[in-house]
Amino acid sequence: MSEQTASQEGKTYPPDAELSKSANVRPEMLEQDLQEFWDEQAKQRLDWFEEYDQVLDWNLPYAKWFVGGKLNACYNCVDRHVEGGKGDKVALHVVPDDGPDSSEARDITFSDLQREVVKMANGLKELGVGKGVPVGIYMQMIPEAVVAMLACARLGAPHTVVFGGFSGKAVAERCNDLECKVLITQDEAMRGGKAGAQKTNADEGLDAGETTVEKIVVVQRTGADIPMSDRDVYLHDLTANVSDDPESCPCEPMDSEDLLFLLYTSGSTGKPKGVVHTTAGYLLGVTTTHNLVFDVKDDSVYWCAADIGWITGHSYITYGPLANGCTSVLFEGVPGYPDKAVWWKIIEKYGVSILYTSPTAIKSHMKAGEEHLQGHDLSSIKILGSVGEPINPDVWEWYREHVGGGKAPIMDTWWQTETGHILITPLPGITTLKPGMAQQPFPGVRPEIRDDEGNQLDVEQTGNLVLTQPWPGMMRTLYKDDQRFKDTYWSKYSDAYFAGDGAKYDADGDIQLMGRIDDVVNVSGHRLSTFEVESALVEHADVAEAAVAARKDDDTGQAIIAFVSLKGDKQGTEELEQALREQVAQSIGKLARPASVIFANDLPKTRSGKIMRRLLKNLAEGEELGDTSTLVDPSVVDEMQKQMKG
Ligand code: PRX
Repeated sequence: MSEQTASQEGKTYPPDAELSKSANVRPEMLEQDLQEFWDEQAKQRLDWFEEYDQVLDWNLPYAKWFVGGKLNACYNCVDRHVEGGKGDKVALHVVPDDGPDSSEARDITFSDLQREVVKMANGLKELGVGKGVPVGIYMQMIPEAVVAMLACARLGAPHTVVFGGFSGKAVAERCNDLECKVLITQDEAMRGGKAGAQKTNADEGLDAGETTVEKIVVVQRTGADIPMSDRDVYLHDLTANVSDDPESCPCEPMDSEDLLFLLYTSGSTGKPKGVVHTTAGYLLGVTTTHNLVFDVKDDSVYWCAADIGWITGHSYITYGPLANGCTSVLFEGVPGYPDKAVWWKIIEKYGVSILYTSPTAIKSHMKAGEEHLQGHDLSSIKILGSVGEPINPDVWEWYREHVGGGKAPIMDTWWQTETGHILITPLPGITTLKPGMAQQPFPGVRPEIRDDEGNQLDVEQTGNLVLTQPWPGMMRTLYKDDQRFKDTYWSKYSDAYFAGDGAKYDADGDIQLMGRIDDVVNVSGHRLSTFEVESALVEHADVAEAAVAARKDDDTGQAIIAFVSLKGDKQGTEELEQALREQVAQSIGKLARPASVIFANDLPKTRSGKIMRRLLKNLAEGEELGDTSTLVDPSVVDEMQKQMKG
């Protein structure tokens, strides 16, 4: 499939006149001064226990937003809605793994949510959790995951959510780094009709070495008979005798700049980076963007089909939608189970008006075929969203046509774990849409596209995307690693945030994202570093060295190719290839499993001993290799090429 088919090239979709009149976002906002815009939003959208006395204190690269203010994220997401008379409004339509017709499907109102959060927070208090005491969360898409995040926020306890599909090792690394004393998890996870280990994964990871975790709180999802030790307590036992009265557990007043959560993400080298997000700026950023980008109204039914373990889940399942008092769908399962129409049944049953998902998910629906959408009433859809990777124009057109009834505008939103919230996106009722482009900065955001020397580039020239003004949800630093924070994001250019993405302007000044320019790989919208995968490969006893590159993949965006040299006279057999793929799945998680493993006597190295990564990228993509004369042994490349073709 070509990136841009001839029939679609240049096709644009002007905003609908009705939407332009009724949209929450106003064109004047784009003209507003940065501080004036966010000050206005902060007063309108958040409830403060104490007002701030300064909107922004910017000392590049360190930002403080809403200095002196006090607030609580849980209060803004839950309590204020109940106090404001919206207690009976549905906060979450909970759809279990086996779909919307399941007898386990249920609705949680804002009042229910408040009771659940208060109960869990009171339980956590008994374990010594309170302001500034970090908590790990290792769960799948069940409502208790949202409750756990909010319970932490209520107590002022920073959380770190570890993606439920990651290994126990990843859990241990992250929890130990943040020095979590408590981990919240679930007995088992249900996905695609199968129960999978969750709590025992965590045990394996934590028991492999020393750990700071002293207590594991276990939510019963399947009721499986899992090993429980003195370290473990079931949530229902912990909370059996605690109050669910909000007054028994008031929301802790937090400083605007107090840590709300840490989320670990992959960088191009080294261990995962602990991205620091603080309370007020983050909460305001996600609330404002959620409201304006998706044009959220009182009766909107919103569904973000991301996972709670990623930043999208934090910002646009938990904090943004709940702070906006919006009704959401929370789906535990996967696109093709119990049948290929499950998404369309969910949209029909709940009258979903806003759907936010990834290009990979849309592609899987395209592949499954239009017939699964037929007979389902999707007329409730008003706005569509896309996130996580560039969306191919063909996929964009399909999404609009088949899910959006040929009229719903698509918001192709660009942002990152580090940015906290959406920064580049079309705006409903304002932007003339172009398939496959994120297009325009959100109000207050100032992107530029520069070459390596710092010159601003002309239209159609690909360069580095940077941001020259701060925004409220920006990461404050990398946990315990200020130097890496400065080196990674603020040293390429002295005056701007370096995003790590390639981008270009078209003739109208619209931005097209071109993918990562570092060693970060994006598989199905999941971010991984080549370094992490390489580390997992060399853990295998037979592996001498490993290097990883990515190739384009129609289904997953990118796919991982591992290049491996073996110890001694070990042979690269099919069994070993499987074993290595499994090794990576075990060590990191299934999503990191290489699509293929290429064996060679050595890796392509320069005379100074450096692996030529450019060459591996070319090999993985099946591209021309160019000059290989600087290699110590050019024959290893021939050997690899042969295997790639075979
Ligand atoms: O390369 C960009 C890609 O995803 C990266 C950020 O990944 P992560 O921190 O996991 O956050 C994903 C969810 C926000 C970016 O550096 N990316 C994200 N959204 C888009 C995108 N690439 C193109 N278009 C997008 N809309």
